[in-house]
Amino acid sequence: MTLDRFLVRNQPEHPEASGELTRVLDQMGTVAKIISSHVRRSSLEGLKGFTGDTNIQGEKVKKLDILSNDVLVEAFEYVGIVGAIVSEEMDEPRVLHSDKDREKYVVLVDPIDGSSNLDVDCVIGSIFSVHAFDGDLEKAILQKGTKQVASGYIMYGTSTLLVYSAKDGVHSFVLDEEIGEFVMDHETLRMPRRGKIISANFGNRDRWAQPARNFSDALIANESDPYSLRYSGALVADLHQILHHGGIYFYPEDDRRPSGKLRLLYECAPLAMIAEEAGGGSTTGKDRVMGISPQSIHQRVPFAVGSLYEIEAYEKAYKTEPTG
Ligand code: F6P
Ligand code: MN
Repeated sequence: MTLDRFLVRNQPEHPEASGELTRVLDQMGTVAKIISSHVRRSSLEGLKGFTGDTNIQGEKVKKLDILSNDVLVEAFEYVGIVGAIVSEEMDEPRVLHSDKDREKYVVLVDPIDGSSNLDVDCVIGSIFSVHAFDGDLEKAILQKGTKQVASGYIMYGTSTLLVYSAKDGVHSFVLDEEIGEFVMDHETLRMPRRGKIISANFGNRDRWAQPARNFSDALIANESDPYSLRYSGALVADLHQILHHGGIYFYPEDDRRPSGKLRLLYECAPLAMIAEEAGGGSTTGKDRVMGISPQSIHQRVPFAVGSLYEIEAYEKAYKTEPTG
């Protein structure tokens, strides 16, 4: 079962989205193939390293970040029904079309997630979220995660995978480079209720908010049922592993970053939706990530995502020792 066939087959199941969402997701598949081919050839094409610029987040921009951003913008210019694109790599939303009768969606993206991994040939990803658009751009962009029409990620690992949900479960596809198509590997991905993986940057442990420290200390102290630490430096890759094996990824607020590091609209909310659709959850410690009303496009939030058991324990740690 290829991605395009699956999208067409499932089209009647979300009539509110009609065939137009299919076109957006199908285009994401094309984007994934193009970026994947650049990733695979990045050493040969001289795509490693920095451009010399710094983005609005204060991060140094990599050549592949910009190339992937351009691939996304160009792809959705073709689709016609996408009114604007919001990206980690662009200060402001890029308006693609202004025919209000035609546009139905805005697309929000992290073009390359975990880009520091690129220079050492480790796993990287892309994250996307699709919102409904009815002519009011700001309203369409600043929507709660619960209002997402679809979301997902692409992982450029040993294989290239595309994982998405249109609120109908989580579907996973692997790129068959021989035929140039995404082929289904899991029709419905379900996360274990409790897992074995703990994934966080423990180099920052002493800076974390106290509840996050208490949570991880308690989890690690559990000798009868030990957890394994897995942290790749790419959120997409860590979440993908947790989707299969269960557990928790967290990037809490710390004394340098009072709102954490990760961006709500194009990192946290889309992956929170994937986790929830797979039977897991996501929280800031205090609030369900999917329920947060965004205030700005590059807003950051403290983020934990994973299996229900661990997410509940994380929230409990914040209730027991509130951060104020
Ligand atoms: O996009 C931000 C990101 O690169 C995530 O993919 C990753 O989990 C995290 O930041 C790594 O940050 P740090 O190097 O601070 O652990
Ligand atoms: Mn990212």
